[in-house]
Amino acid sequence: KIKERMRMIIVNEQEKVFHLNNGRISYLFYVMESGQLGHLYFGKALTQKGSYLHMVEKAHRPMTTYITEGDLYTSYEHLRQEYPCYGTSDYRYPAMEIQGGDGSRICKLEYQRYRIINGKKPLPGLPATYVEDESEASTVEIVMRDSKYALEVVFSYSIFRDFDAIARSVQLVNHGKEALLVNRAMSMSIDFPDAAFQSVQLSGAWARERYVHVRDLQPGITAVSSMRGNSSHQHNPFLALKRKNTTEQSGEAYGFSLIYSGNFLAQAEVDNYQVLRVMLGINPFGFQWKLDAAANFTTPEAVMVYSNAGLNGMSQQFHRLYRNRLVRGYWRDRERPVLINNWEATQFDYVEEDLIRFAAKAKECDIELFVLDDGWFGARNDDKCGLGDWKANTQKLPNGIEGLSKRIEALGMKFGLWFEPEMVNKDSDFFRMHPDYIIATPERSVSHGRNQFVLDFSRREVVDAIYEQMYALLSKAKISYIKWDMNRSISECYSKAYHSDQQGEIFHRYILGVYDLHERLIQAFPSLLIESCASGGGRFDAGMLYYAPQGWVSDDSDAIERLKIQYGTSLVYPLSCMGAHVSACPNEQVGRQTPLETRGNVAFTGAFGYELDLNKLSVNEIETVKKQVAFYKENRNFIAKSDFYRLCSPFETNFAAWEAVAPDGKRALVTVTRILSEINGPYRRLPLCGLLPEQQYHIKSQYLSYNAYGDELMQYGMILEDKSSGQIIDGSGGCQDFRSVLYEITAVQGC
Ligand code: GLA
Repeated sequence: KIKERMRMIIVNEQEKVFHLNNGRISYLFYVMESGQLGHLYFGKALTQKGSYLHMVEKAHRPMTTYITEGDLYTSYEHLRQEYPCYGTSDYRYPAMEIQGGDGSRICKLEYQRYRIINGKKPLPGLPATYVEDESEASTVEIVMRDSKYALEVVFSYSIFRDFDAIARSVQLVNHGKEALLVNRAMSMSIDFPDAAFQSVQLSGAWARERYVHVRDLQPGITAVSSMRGNSSHQHNPFLALKRKNTTEQSGEAYGFSLIYSGNFLAQAEVDNYQVLRVMLGINPFGFQWKLDAAANFTTPEAVMVYSNAGLNGMSQQFHRLYRNRLVRGYWRDRERPVLINNWEATQFDYVEEDLIRFAAKAKECDIELFVLDDGWFGARNDDKCGLGDWKANTQKLPNGIEGLSKRIEALGMKFGLWFEPEMVNKDSDFFRMHPDYIIATPERSVSHGRNQFVLDFSRREVVDAIYEQMYALLSKAKISYIKWDMNRSISECYSKAYHSDQQGEIFHRYILGVYDLHERLIQAFPSLLIESCASGGGRFDAGMLYYAPQGWVSDDSDAIERLKIQYGTSLVYPLSCMGAHVSACPNEQVGRQTPLETRGNVAFTGAFGYELDLNKLSVNEIETVKKQVAFYKENRNFIAKSDFYRLCSPFETNFAAWEAVAPDGKRALVTVTRILSEINGPYRRLPLCGLLPEQQYHIKSQYLSYNAYGDELMQYGMILEDKSSGQIIDGSGGCQDFRSVLYEITAVQGC
């Protein structure tokens, strides 16, 4: 008998099959005879039918261990599972490992019951997607139990009505009398029936974060991870699977994203029968959680997306979900201010009057927010001292932050301020007062990074001490924005405040402390805009977006470098979250000279701003800046809410092209950047996406103006301005490298 509890979750009570279906995607799992949970299907929506159990494939195989005596067919090794445990005939990596008081690491979860919840519950102390109305999602909670340990494990699956995504998390509750050790508790696991996929990961380093890397899956493990305490510049908490013939615009793509900012593991394991196990969660390396009697533990949330419209289709699902139901609060739907940041212009070297001149010029260009970066506090004149002392350096700022912020507001701008709340220099009053507040292992040396040490945010009193300092400033001065930086990873991880058997908790507790400080600031100052930063993009993850609606994508502000960085970042993260600024030339990081237009065009598809001293620009350049600011203001709402398409990859070609299209298809903005100049090249057209086939559009750029129907623009393509020579012509002669053109496509009446 099939019981239709909710439109989106259908339960076959007899066969114990659960079908999550929003009309576009289906996710199916069932309870095995043995009580474990088995996986059936994830992909394009399936027609609901009476039985799916024929999908369970099992065979007698040599060299296998079977779970019941006399049965030579049933082995967890060959059954596709939902959330596997090690030690009961499955030899692949498990999703969970529990260590009991007797030292055993075997765990056997058996199905108890399920419950369906309208909507979706928040996760305690953790960032997560949310709903505003119960009809937006349905959640099924599957209650499992290990009877030996009296351990209850609740798997939670939420399917969204408006997004092709399923959110998963797991809660463990110890109903026993003894503590258990949780050695591994992933947020999700899934066994795909075949392994004919390529994996897509976002990997890189400082100043070249989130490059797209694609590899064929092979038998064995493909994984990315972090053990640094932050999600890292090196790898992003994300993994996608695509078929070999999947492109940006077509074919199957699955995306797995973890809403978490600490150590993670994203892994794909192909077994000897081509079954593919994908899992995502807190990195088990260095992790061990002591689960006391009556205590519970909740994993971070993992989001699984399916699309059969290529990688762009997958990205658009993440973008829509994250910008509408992960980002929250005051700034979610508001236009983000055009900002100017003084870091690349001044570094630590400034006094109040310099800043006023800097901001006044920005005001002249209609920039809305002035952000004072590092160097305003304590004795900070370089990176060797001051972190931890969040009081103005009155030698530089005689009127303090309060006075400066008032002067900035008097200019007609908002004021923003840089903090690095999690860090301390030994040369600071804060450290001298609390030398025991840093993360350090007793009787061992402590490594430094950028001359700084990590405050032990796993301890409430440490978070309190920083909160008090920040609260004092924020409540007195006129601060509308903070840039929350984090410039080193954790080493020698250990907390003096916890017992020896809890040291495996510190990495996770640290991140919970970071989230707690964020949450307290948001509660106290709901309209404060927070931009996250970690030496650029070292913690650019979905977890941070719950607290900070935008993040500094990379310390590399060169427009050409940014093509790859922003292209990769857009695989998961929405444009409105990507802090993107126009900086000075030659560029500070790579010494490159690029046209101001190109710098603007590349930064437009992000949370736009400037990172240079406008007083140093020529009159003509200031005119260009004014036009850029006006253009962005006019278009920022459209850009932030648009559907984004990657059209041409800077990883594979000499061009980067992308398109932002209004959801109704009536307007689009196409950015085409040619990296190096070409001589005598081919004619070029660029097929566009997301337009209405029978709608006529006007195409306008600096040098081009014509009308065409949507079908022509999508099939034949938009003409690029490289008529005879393959060059984007700007008529000025000179160096043609790094040219970029912006095309505005607007629906028009008639023909
Ligand atoms: C980090 C940030 C930069 C800047 C400096 C200041 O490197 O990523 O944007 O704020 O710190 O020290």
